[in-house]
Amino acid sequence: MLEFSYKNSDISIIGEENGLNIETEFNEYASQISDIIKNLNQRKDKPGERLQWMNLGYNEETLWYVKEFASLVEGRFDNIIVLGIGGSALGGIAVTEALLKPYWNLLTKEQRNNFPRIFFLDNIDPDSVNGLLDVLDLKKTLVNVITKSGDTAETMSQFMVIRDLLQKELGDEYRKNIVATTDKKMGILRQLADQEGYKIFYVPDDVGGRFSVFSSVGLVPFALVGLDIEKIMNGIKDMDLELKNTDIHQNIAALGALLNYLMDIKKGKKISVLMPYSNRLKYIPHWFTQLWAESLGKDGRGLTPLKAIGASDQHTLLQLFNDGPNDKLITFIRVNEFETTLEIPKIFEYTGIGYLGGKTVNDLMNAEANSTLVSLVDHNRPTMTITIDRIDEYHIAQVMYLLEVQTAIAGELYNINAFNQPAVEQSINYIYALMGRAGYDGSAEELRQKMLFV
Ligand code: PA5
Repeated sequence: MLEFSYKNSDISIIGEENGLNIETEFNEYASQISDIIKNLNQRKDKPGERLQWMNLGYNEETLWYVKEFASLVEGRFDNIIVLGIGGSALGGIAVTEALLKPYWNLLTKEQRNNFPRIFFLDNIDPDSVNGLLDVLDLKKTLVNVITKSGDTAETMSQFMVIRDLLQKELGDEYRKNIVATTDKKMGILRQLADQEGYKIFYVPDDVGGRFSVFSSVGLVPFALVGLDIEKIMNGIKDMDLELKNTDIHQNIAALGALLNYLMDIKKGKKISVLMPYSNRLKYIPHWFTQLWAESLGKDGRGLTPLKAIGASDQHTLLQLFNDGPNDKLITFIRVNEFETTLEIPKIFEYTGIGYLGGKTVNDLMNAEANSTLVSLVDHNRPTMTITIDRIDEYHIAQVMYLLEVQTAIAGELYNINAFNQPAVEQSINYIYALMGRAGYDGSAEELRQKMLFV
């Protein structure tokens, strides 16, 4: 079960200055929202619309190929290294962190049911790359290099380093330790995979990086570490059916998108905070930050995403949330049942912390979430809450797919193209110029001149 509640953003709870007259707004936007949902679903199969991610839950063929590959290599590797950046890594990090047993990489092989450890190298800090390579035995490591374009400098530089080391250690057998995930037709990685004979998975056409977590981009690493990718698909399918509903009252992605949009344009809430009360969900806001920022930050429009984790960030951000500028809409993610219960022993009863004894850490987490929510209402700060029963493949897929559709609908409300990132591409071209990529020499000199003033 997944529930969505928004009453704490209503005028009746947090007042006219900061709250919305939600029922009136819903009625006013009902037909526009209905058109947006119909339109997205009509356009999704058209080439070039970049909406194929809406079909990923139904991709039985990929599911089959990924499962086949995972069972072929089962037991052969102790480690997986995923090379990728942005949309090619963040979804994988968020899902594995949420679904694998906590501290997975520290568990013994038996405790991991023989599945490998998993490491994501999503940054090019030479110290962390070297640090990881120092501790892993590459012979027992499968490298999944993921880049849709096939030539992203950050990913491919790391791949060049590791591919070279693999060949030195394994001779001709090195290619068996590489699986590439990239575009079907284009790109350098595609060529290399053919030339050198790596196992290859495709990122489907019209699926952008930040919407690709449920394509082979995520499914391959998930299956390799033993996650149930069929349950993931079921979660997306069920959510997709729900989100086809054109009635705003019944469509929680539309509700979330509209409330974020109206809070921005009518109430000046320029920051959208995502705050799960679960440590296992701590990378979901990280993934969401990219999804929301790259999709909606265009033409001077969009909301700034901000990550927060309950309860830790009560001790870093809550002062600002309650008492700083009232410019944020905070979305909580709450979990009804944690997988385990942690009892607090009845000790130190003679001290000021004695009241904690006999309770559970679960009780404390819930009390903290409730108190944060109420204190925000006390300060007339708008909030919404997504609640899931538990953290498992089905529910995590539902939350993430919901946030993807919410982003697409928000893009339509802002009247921007949520599926490109022109302002990032400009900086990528500058990187090529600085690093001497052929064809970029002209802009290199101009760039050097500009850098003198920076
Ligand atoms: O959302 C996006 O499209 C980007 O964040 C990309 O995922 C990121 O730039 C990596 O690109 P690629 O997969 O081509 O290496």
